This record gives sequence, C-alpha cells and structure tokens, in this order.
Amino acid sequence: MMSTQVLLDLKNVNKVFGTNHVLKQIDLQIERGKFITFLGPSGCGKTTLLRSIAGFYTIDEGEIWIDGKLVNDLPPYKRGTPMVFQEYALFPHMTVFDNVAYGLDIQKRPEAEVQERVQAALAKVKLTGLEERYPHQMSGGQQQRVAMARALVMNSPIILLDEPLSNLDAKLREEVRVELRAIQQELGLTVIYVTHDQLEALSMSDYIVVFNKGAIDQYGTPHEIYYKPRTRYVADFIGTTNFVEATVKEVSGPEATVEYGINGHTVKVSTSEQVAVGEQVLLSIRPESLRINQPEAGDFTIRAVVKSSMFLGEKERYFLSGYNGTEWIVDAYDIGQTSFEGNVDIRAAADKIHLIKMAD
Ligand SMILES: Nc1ncnc2c1ncn2[C@@H]1O[C@H](COP(=O)(O)OP(=O)(O)O)[C@@H](O)[C@H]1O
Ligand SMILES: [Mg+2]
Repeated sequence: MMSTQVLLDLKNVNKVFGTNHVLKQIDLQIERGKFITFLGPSGCGKTTLLRSIAGFYTIDEGEIWIDGKLVNDLPPYKRGTPMVFQEYALFPHMTVFDNVAYGLDIQKRPEAEVQERVQAALAKVKLTGLEERYPHQMSGGQQQRVAMARALVMNSPIILLDEPLSNLDAKLREEVRVELRAIQQELGLTVIYVTHDQLEALSMSDYIVVFNKGAIDQYGTPHEIYYKPRTRYVADFIGTTNFVEATVKEVSGPEATVEYGINGHTVKVSTSEQVAVGEQVLLSIRPESLRINQPEAGDFTIRAVVKSSMFLGEKERYFLSGYNGTEWIVDAYDIGQTSFEGNVDIRAAADKIHLIKMAD
C-alpha cells in the first residue's frame, strides 16, 4: 500500500471505559476511495472506534492520523469526519435543503456559500430539484443520498456510517445497500461502514475488518475473509462452516500434509500459516465445498450418517453425523436429482480446505 494512498492510519489505538478495555491495540490503515466495513457482534467496540475516529471519544493510548495529520487532540468539527447514525440519519421535520445545510449552518457559514455548497452536494448525489421535499416524501434510496450529501457538503475526507440501515425492512435495506455502494464508487468516497450483518459486509465492501472483543481478528477482502478466515472466530462468524481437527504430518513450503479422522487419512493442503510437524490444527470446509457420494469429488473423505435435510430453495442442506458424533453440514445444489440417506461418504477437494491455527 503506497503511503500517499493511506487516508486513515490507526496506530496502537486503545480505549478503556472504567475497567472495560474496549479497544485493544488497534492497528489499521485505510486507503483512499475504499468502502471499508467494521464487522462484529454487538458490544465488540465498533461504535467506540468510529466515535474515536470522529473525535467524540478521546483514546487512552495510540495515534489517529487522518490524511497525514495527527488528530488525537482535535475536536470533531476540526477533524471533518461527521458520522451518520441509524437513529437520526435525517431530520424528519426539515426539507432536503435544510438537512444538507445543517452542518454549514452550525458553522455559521455565509448564506451565499451555504447555497452554493448545498447545491453542489445535491448535484453530486443527483438530487437537484428535490430541495424542498421532506424525507418522508422520498424513497429509502433517495433518503440515503441525502444523508451522503450531508457528509459531502462538509468536504469530509471520510464518511462514517454506523449501522445506517438497521431500521429498514429487509427489502428496502437491500435496495439502499446497492444505492450506497453506487454513490461511494461514483464519487470515489472513502466510507467506513459499521454493521453486525455478515451478508451486508460481504456484499458491499472492498475490505472487511472483523472485530473480536475489541481487537481486530482479520482485515481482508470479502473473499479472503470468507475463504481464508485466519481464526476459528472469523470462520464461525462469517457464514456456515465445518471444522475438523487434524494433525500436521509434513510441511513443505506453503503446503502441509495433515491427518484427520479415525482411519489415518491424510490430505495435502496449501496454507500461508506457519505450522510445525505434530501441531494440532483445524480444517475449515464450507458446506458448499462438500459433496455426498461422489468418489471423484476430492481427496478429503469422511464417513457419515445423514440425520436430516432441509429444502432451502436453490439448495438442499444436509445435516450429518460423523466419527465421534461430529456434526456436518453439506449443501447439495442438484436438487431433485438425488436424495441421500443412511451411511454416506462426504468429500472435498484439497483446494477447498482451509487450515486454521488452533492457538488463535
Ligand atoms: N460511553 C460509554 N461508557 C461506558 N461504556 C461504554 C460506552 N460506550 C460503549 N461502552 C461499552 O463498550 C463496549 C463496546 O461498545 P460499542 O462500541 O457500542 O460496541 P458495538 O458498536 O460493536 O456494538 C461495550 O461493552 C459497551 O458496554
Ligand atoms: Mg454499535
């Protein structure tokens, strides 16, 4: 990452509330023009970090750099990073114009400048002509554009969005998601978006930051987070997966041969983790990467018993029991062609198996 592209640089950021160590050694660099999602369950510190970046909280240790400037001691209005909250993304009793002008009015900018900047911001989000409307007279997508215009009018280097869609119903949320991402890409904005919804994170982001109890477990693209989770926590949090314990038997470069199950089966997987012979590791295999009773489907093989299955539209989800009672979930997409019961053989190709270190 070229340093000139780094817009937000967090160095060893720590935040404590009383005895609660809420942010733990946060190191993170965010590039200009990217859509970044902070993802994690409720209470893991997402809002606290966002508020710390915006300047509403003072951090206890570390440095926050925005656009090459150390901002630790700057108040929110001098950082220029307004937040959009779920509760009051827009003021319902104000027109679109007044909503967008709000931040400038607070700063008591001259009337002519307010006019000009609001019009320019509305033009950017393609809302020219709708200045006198009220939020309730607009679609969800348009309202989101107004919320973005409110941030744009302040010339914010970064737009911080804290779960802005959580009050919307599922269908509208999907529509607004697409809209938000489109605006961000059209205008090349740098957006930090907070959510606890993993699908939302996977579908919108350039990069996802996965939080685990106030620390960053992984920073990566949606594909990396999904297919190469660094920890069991990340693998578990993002989608559904199967875990198998295994023992490292041989290491050669980026490949490790591991033994799993009760019959001494081995499989060779590639990994970027440093592992040693004898080490206990976890193998993570997604339900869609497993096949039932397909001898050609790969080197990894386990015997299991079908317990139940569930029709999920585009796929049939099977619940199985393996050795020592381990539970397995396998998704089959050839619905109607075959149906499995009793004793079966589950397989996966080696390149669909992801190795996770236990120690994490
Ligand atoms: N102003 C505050 N005073 C004391 N504790 C707080 C405050 N804000 C958040 N916390 C605590 O910090 C932790 C992280 O909260 P928060 O950042 O809101 O998590 P998230 O946004 O991921 O749900 C929680 O344990 C919460 O109770
Ligand atoms: Mg929150």
